[in-house]
Amino acid sequence: MTKIAVLGYGTVGSGVVEVLTQNAKLINNKAKEEIEVKYVLDLRDFPGDPIQEKIVHDFDVILKDPEVRVVVEVMGGLHPAYEFTKAALEEGKSVCTSNKELVAEHGPELISIAHANNVNYLFEASCGGGIPIIRPLNSSLTADDVDEITGILNGTTNYILTEMTQKGLKYEDVLKDAQEKGYAERNPEADVEGHDACRKLAILSSLAYARTADYKGIYTEGITKITPEDIEYAKALDMQIKLLATSRKVVVDGVKHCYALVAPFLISQNTPLYSVNGVYNAILVHGNMLGYAMFYGAGAGSLPTASAVVSDVVDEVRHLGRTLVFNWNPAMLDLASIEDDKRRFFVRIKESQLDKARELFGEIGTISVGSLPDEVGFITDEISEKDFNANVEKLGGVISRIRIKEDAV
Ligand code: HSE
Repeated sequence: MTKIAVLGYGTVGSGVVEVLTQNAKLINNKAKEEIEVKYVLDLRDFPGDPIQEKIVHDFDVILKDPEVRVVVEVMGGLHPAYEFTKAALEEGKSVCTSNKELVAEHGPELISIAHANNVNYLFEASCGGGIPIIRPLNSSLTADDVDEITGILNGTTNYILTEMTQKGLKYEDVLKDAQEKGYAERNPEADVEGHDACRKLAILSSLAYARTADYKGIYTEGITKITPEDIEYAKALDMQIKLLATSRKVVVDGVKHCYALVAPFLISQNTPLYSVNGVYNAILVHGNMLGYAMFYGAGAGSLPTASAVVSDVVDEVRHLGRTLVFNWNPAMLDLASIEDDKRRFFVRIKESQLDKARELFGEIGTISVGSLPDEVGFITDEISEKDFNANVEKLGGVISRIRIKEDAV
């Protein structure tokens, strides 16, 4: 029998206990070992809940118990998750987590501490909720030079954009409704400003390109400025607006660079990401041999996320005393400025700016939507971010602009 401890009995922690309880028999068969939750660490008590007898309030009880071989860190946040994880690894306990903040900030260091202590640090649930994506990047796509990752990596914002698109609602109204239904946090900033997707992109890019991507260097724009009018134009273009997290590796003179950004993009029906709606996530990965593969599924939620966490518990129980190879090199990935990255843009301007826009952007065709008679939309040719921004300044500003992601497949 292998005993484990769960740090945090919130949405994911309670899901982990439920998955381990409901699927106990098959999980034990797959792990070739009986797995038992010995402790659950939480500040709160849960009187009346069968978990209460396992609740402890002092992490040291877990740390000093040699019977505990695996620690599940699902507390979220950097502190004290970082200190607890480090201490557990140094004490010879494997750790698995859904904590993308911690993995994005300290991933290579914690992997290295784990390996120095002959244990493992796994984080399948840190990206894409229940979707297997860390293991495929680390263990399956080993024959490929992966050169692009583009994903819908945040369930909350995808839910908001889907509701805005399907119901014609305003961002603020959908956010309020999502908060009431528990789909969005009371403080939604990390999700709606793109920070959550940014951290997940940094983790995936680090594994894909075998260099550490610093999330702080990734250009990030959220969805808070998207309006029902933008969505009206998207519909007229047969496109959808999605918050994409995308990175692309380019090699110049043998040196790896990476363009990475998180921002709302217009995508056409020809890309499979077009149909990813609600809280679902999807990640498109391009490899030089594979071409494209898409990983799609439940990107958030208690049980889907817990399913990924428990898959790590099983892996760690199967590999007690042995370390799993991880292709995460602590050397830093060179994140290139997106200023030089080229793409097409969709732009909304006042009708009176059209002549000047044609001078700057060339012979552009225009798109109008019935409800907005005083303005026009147009799509630029491929242009660098730098040149695009310079043109916008010369135009005296635009009503809005949204990047276009070309068809992936
Ligand atoms: N807030 C995250 C999301 C939870 O909405 O995707 C899963 O990481």
